[in-house]
This record gives sequence, C-alpha cells and structure tokens, in this order.
Amino acid sequence: MEGPLESQYQIALGRLLNMSYALRSRLSSTLLSPIGRHSAPSSLRLQRYVSNKAKSSALNVENQPKTGQQPPYGPIGVNAALNCKPNDPTPSPTIFSHEFSLADRVALVSGGNRGLGLEMALALIEAGARVVYCVDLPKDPSAEWQAAHDYAKKLGSSGKTGGEGRLEYITGDVTDQALMWKIGKQIGDKEGRMDACVAAAGILRSNIDCLEYPAEEFRKVIDVNVNGVLFTAQAAGRQMERFGNGGSIVLIASMSGSITNKDQAWVSYNTSKSAVIQMARSMACELAPRKIRVNSLSPGYIYTSLTAAYLDSQPHLLEKWSSQNPMGRLGRPDELRGVVTWLTSDASTFCTGSDVLVSGGHHSW
Ligand SMILES: NC(=O)c1ccc[n+]([C@@H]2O[C@H](COP(=O)([O-])OP(=O)(O)OC[C@H]3O[C@@H](n4cnc5c(N)ncnc54)[C@H](O)[C@@H]3O)[C@@H](O)[C@H]2O)c1
Repeated sequence: MEGPLESQYQIALGRLLNMSYALRSRLSSTLLSPIGRHSAPSSLRLQRYVSNKAKSSALNVENQPKTGQQPPYGPIGVNAALNCKPNDPTPSPTIFSHEFSLADRVALVSGGNRGLGLEMALALIEAGARVVYCVDLPKDPSAEWQAAHDYAKKLGSSGKTGGEGRLEYITGDVTDQALMWKIGKQIGDKEGRMDACVAAAGILRSNIDCLEYPAEEFRKVIDVNVNGVLFTAQAAGRQMERFGNGGSIVLIASMSGSITNKDQAWVSYNTSKSAVIQMARSMACELAPRKIRVNSLSPGYIYTSLTAAYLDSQPHLLEKWSSQNPMGRLGRPDELRGVVTWLTSDASTFCTGSDVLVSGGHHSW
C-alpha cells in the first residue's frame, strides 16, 4: 500500500511544518518584534527603541569576526552615522579621504614608462601614494614619463594629494624573475613597505594564422604577458608578505582574455590574457590568508602605442573597433584611473579573485 502510506506521510509532514511555522511566527512576534507585547508605544519610546535597535544591530555586525576588521580610521558609512551623537561636530565624508586614499602607500607598476601603466601610476600618486616605482625596458624613461614625474612632484609639493608625489623609474625586464625579485626587495629595503602592484607590461604581435604561429613568437608573448606578470606580482607580493600589512595586486589582463577580438589573428595574445585572468584567481585564493588581494583588470580597446600599431596603419579599424561596443568609441587611458585606484585602495577590501572588465560594454553585445 505504497500510495496511501506515502500520502499519510506527506500530510503528517505538512502538519509538522505548519506547527513549526506557527511556533516560529508566535515566538518572533513576541521576542523579535520591535514593539513586542507593548501596545501602542509612545512615539518617543518607539524612536528610542528603533535607535537602540539600530545601534545594537551595528554592534552585532562589528562583533562578527567573519566580517573582517573595521577600518583602523574608525567607523565609516552607516556605522559612522550610528556612532554620530547629536552634539558631535559636523562629520567629514570619509569616502575619498580614507577609503580611496593611498596615503603613505608604496607601489610598483610594470610597463610604467608609457600608456596604461604610466596613466595608472600617476593616478596612484594623485590618490596620495608616497611613491610609485615604474619598471620598464628602456634605459632612460620617455619624455612622457618625465612630464608625469615633474607633474607628480608639483602635486606632491603643493600638499594637495597628501602624498610626496614621488614617481621613480627603474630599468628592468619583467621576464627576468631574479631581477624582478631584486627590484622588489630593493624597494622594500628602502621604503619599509609595499602596498600595491600593477602588472601592466605587455606586448601584442601582428596577426598570424594560428596554424602557422611560430614557436618563438608564441613563447615571447607568453614570456612577457604571462611569466612577466607572475614575476612582477611575486616581486611585490613577497614584500607585502615580508612587511605583513597585506596589499593589493592588479594584473592587467584584457577583454581578449575572455572573448576573441573579431577578425584579429591574436592567438598568442588572447591565450596569454586568459592565463592572466586565471593567474589572478589562483593567486587570490592562495594569498587571501596573507591579506594580499589579487584581481585582474581587463580593458577593452584603448588608444595607446600598443593599439596604435594597428590603428595608425589600418585607419578603417578605428570605426570597426569602435562600432563593436555599445558606446561606439575607443577608451582613453585616463578612463582607468578610477578603477585602478579603487582596486589598490581600501575602497575594495572585499574584492579579490575578480576580473574587472572596463570595455565600453564590448561584452554586452
Ligand atoms: N591598449 C589597449 O587597448 C589594451 C587593452 C587591453 C589590455 N591592454 C594591456 O594593458 C597593458 C599596457 O598596454 P598599453 O596599451 O599601455 O601598451 P604600451 O605598449 O603603451 O605599454 C606597454 C609597456 O610595457 C613595456 N614592456 C613590454 N615588455 C616589457 C618587458 N619585458 N619588461 C618590462 N616592460 C615591458 C613596454 O616597454 C611599454 O612601456 C598591456 O598588458 C596590454 O596588453 C591594453
């Protein structure tokens, strides 16, 4: 008699569930309701109750060890509001002065001689970093870098950034692991800390049919775009671990790590960028217990020397690439200033192992 037994069982189970639900709602109406069993509380009593309740719920959040430490500079956001007494002086916003601030932070940026690396290095300076070290191939920095250096110095001496405005240049090849570790250590020895890293050095080669792709060329792209990114992240990460303050590492990948650029034969580049996205996830999982966050940042088409090699010699590509995102245009390097500051600062303390796409919506189509 399987059928009736089964339905009797279902009925009994249903009754049990109903009873447990009724019990729970009765309990919650007496124990948990803001008014409880008091009828028609005075508006003052209700106000006081709501305010205490809000404070105790904020305290509960603070007391939960799983939410991580509260910022060292005191409560922010709603917690700041709850802690604000009626007679306290007018509060100051903390979002830019604290969460997004890189005051006293030390950063290493590879590929920082020009393009996206340099733009992001200057953004970190403007966010108050004490110093940003740019590592790149040329023996002497470019005129563009020099101009950014002088500008940073002026900003620093004006006192408007809260930082020193120091942009430093180091010649180095990211594919040389021993050299990159040495550079990281020298920075650590000198500055006594390492807080942020942007691994932006990368190369893009000409279109080559994937079935004909020469081994040497493929190895070269992987060496710079994958090995070089790892060695840069290691150089900074080893110092972050050494000083124990944690840190944030941003690996510059590309939208090409998760889509294939239409009509471009870029198998080496696309493969390398996919590897960078996975490298960020993998490192993030290993390094989270050491308070080091790792994310990848994936730009869409942005006009720099890297893309100019294509765009300037094939002018029709400007319209074609622009039409491939809903915004109908290429990006500017300065449109990454906000996201890199967010990722390297305390404004993103719960963000790790993510790939942040900034592509004008290229993926949305
Ligand atoms: N421009 C774009 O549209 C775009 C889009 C997505 C991702 N990206 C990525 O952003 C990063 C920066 O690109 P960009 O557009 O500024 O290009 P860029 O060519 O202007 O800058 C790259 C920098 O990396 C340096 N570099 C190359 N090989 C190096 C090595 N072995 N050691 C040290 N430095 C080295 C170069 O000298 C150069 O200064 C790259 O990783 C690139 O793949 C660019």
